[in-house]
Amino acid sequence: MKLAVFSAKPYDKRYLGGVHAARADADPVELIFHEFSLSQDTVSLANGADAVCVFVNDSLDTPVIEALHNAGVRAILLRCAGFNNVDLRTAEKLGLFVANVPSYSPEAVAEFAVALIQTLNRNTHRAYNRVREGNFNLEGLLGRTLHGKTIGVIGTGKIGLAFARIMKGFGCSLLAFDPYPTDAFAPYGEYADLDTLLPQCDFVSLHCPLTDSTRQIISEPTLAAMKPGAVLVNTSRGGLIDTGAVIAALKARHLGGLALDVYEGEGSLFYNDHSADIIQDDELMRLTTFPNVLVCGHQAFFTEEALAEIANCTLQNLEDFRRKVPCKNSLVREGHLLVKRASLPVRSV
Ligand SMILES: NC(=O)c1ccc[n+]([C@@H]2O[C@H](COP(=O)([O-])OP(=O)(O)OC[C@H]3O[C@@H](n4cnc5c(N)ncnc54)[C@H](O)[C@@H]3O)[C@@H](O)[C@H]2O)c1
Repeated sequence: MKLAVFSAKPYDKRYLGGVHAARADADPVELIFHEFSLSQDTVSLANGADAVCVFVNDSLDTPVIEALHNAGVRAILLRCAGFNNVDLRTAEKLGLFVANVPSYSPEAVAEFAVALIQTLNRNTHRAYNRVREGNFNLEGLLGRTLHGKTIGVIGTGKIGLAFARIMKGFGCSLLAFDPYPTDAFAPYGEYADLDTLLPQCDFVSLHCPLTDSTRQIISEPTLAAMKPGAVLVNTSRGGLIDTGAVIAALKARHLGGLALDVYEGEGSLFYNDHSADIIQDDELMRLTTFPNVLVCGHQAFFTEEALAEIANCTLQNLEDFRRKVPCKNSLVREGHLLVKRASLPVRSV
């Protein structure tokens, strides 16, 4: 069996290759690594493969999935949790196996969201640059003590709960919004609707998936409802935010800070070096000019522990497919869509 791995970085080769070598007896599988992402332009490189392994910015729309199917590919292995970049309905129609890695160190992402809050709030990113130039002036570095502040958590799934646990430890009060509340949040705070939550929170962190109901959940009206000076953090998906509205709220000094690990137009930029290019995305470039905005390149998941879990789970999903045994991470199997249709994420643009 041949597995074509797209968007393969050196660390993917290291972790997938290492796990594969350790279970080589169990998996008579050949791994073929492609550094570029999977798209209509590159799908022909899947010819001869039985399965493809993809990441967050590979584009598996209907034409790509049909081309994969025509090339003989029968399984799509996502080495991530989100599957908004895969047209599951087409995969279902063609009978393809699709599986994801639903959970890999939710603490890794939650800890990164907290790191973004702390960096932005205490201006350590600016202090770092100043000190390197011999500037020890504190003007402009004033932060706020987190203890006693109110934190809004949008989405209390695995990552939202891990984030809530940490913020509770800082001595913060927590409010959460989730259409599917869970008792697991009870030790950390209370649920409220967005209209109640937004005006009360000093920091708001997004931990919901990108779906039809969450696309641009942060837009002009929700930004207007936020407390003046509040800080917004997005480690989930770029499409949750209307970037133009956020820029306007920053310019109006209504939004006090913005920390992004994800960005709506990240697909053509993130995970690659564009330092010598003329980047055409004016909204992203405008964001990078604000002193109170931090942008990272979708790295919240990026810990040793998470990469090891992703590699193990991805190859176990492949093994389940190969052995034709039930796979607990299937999103589509034998023509059946196993995720609730009403909750299907939409494709990111
Ligand atoms: N930056 C990264 O590296 C990285 C890594 C992993 C995951 N993520 C993102 O984090 C998101 C959350 O991951 P998770 O593992 O906690 O997922 P999860 O499925 O465990 O939790 C998502 C939660 O969002 C809730 N939700 C659904 N619709 C909502 C809405 N309209 N408003 C508020 N909440 C809503 C769900 O009920 C659920 O409780 C993923 O969808 C993914 O986009 C980012």
